[in-house]
Amino acid sequence: MDYDGHYTVGGFTGSGKSVFLMDLFDGCRSMVKIFFNSQLKHIKGVKVSNVDAMRRAFEDGKRRLVFNPASDIPTARAQLAGVIDVLFKMAKKMRHGETREIWCSLFVDEGQDYAPKGDIAAALIQVWRQGLEMGIQGVICTQRFAEISHTILTQSKYVFFFRFNEFEKDYLERLYPVDKFWLHIQQPYHFAMVNLGELSLFKPIKYKSKS
Ligand SMILES: Nc1ncnc2c1ncn2[C@@H]1O[C@H](COP(=O)(O)OP(=O)(O)O)[C@@H](O)[C@H]1O
Ligand SMILES: [Mg+2]
Repeated sequence: MDYDGHYTVGGFTGSGKSVFLMDLFDGCRSMVKIFFNSQLKHIKGVKVSNVDAMRRAFEDGKRRLVFNPASDIPTARAQLAGVIDVLFKMAKKMRHGETREIWCSLFVDEGQDYAPKGDIAAALIQVWRQGLEMGIQGVICTQRFAEISHTILTQSKYVFFFRFNEFEKDYLERLYPVDKFWLHIQQPYHFAMVNLGELSLFKPIKYKSKS
């Protein structure tokens, strides 16, 4: 994993995104890691389900948290806004104009619920706009590239493409060299990455089901 930009991961349901994200989360070396809304039960980390519990976990020295938000989206969105507020306050306390090193990685699954396209007020956009200078990196995952905030997509230095639907092609073709990886991602759990215009193709990550 790289620490000099934000990530967007997209593809349709069952294409392998959550498994990939968990692998990325495991290997992430940021001092603080938060996985908001993980879709996988066996993910490792201290489980919290509200912002106060998250604060307490930090005070207890916990650094790897899995935040399970409320099931109704407005409440869940308010919770994510609370998480981001805490992180920005921590960032301000920690760094007095020092390095720009990433100290925190915030992962968000089902991102279209938290930063839908056109919603310029979504708290998550703040992470994509100002996070890096505060040392906070965002990783967002979505089933539909066309449904997440355009700002988030276009300000992600690393964009990962798992298999997606034909009707997303039009939207993505204007931004990425889709034809160069379209056939590759038709294979199960294969994926592609575009990093500042440069394309890389990947085989499935190794995955053993633990259930
Ligand atoms: N790299 C992989 N190798 C083998 N099986 C995988 C891999 N990635 C995903 N799977 C299988 O596909 C299922 C769905 O993957 P998941 O990551 O949850 O999809 P998504 O988040 O894109 O909906 C997983 O539960 C797992 O059984
Ligand atoms: Mg998933």
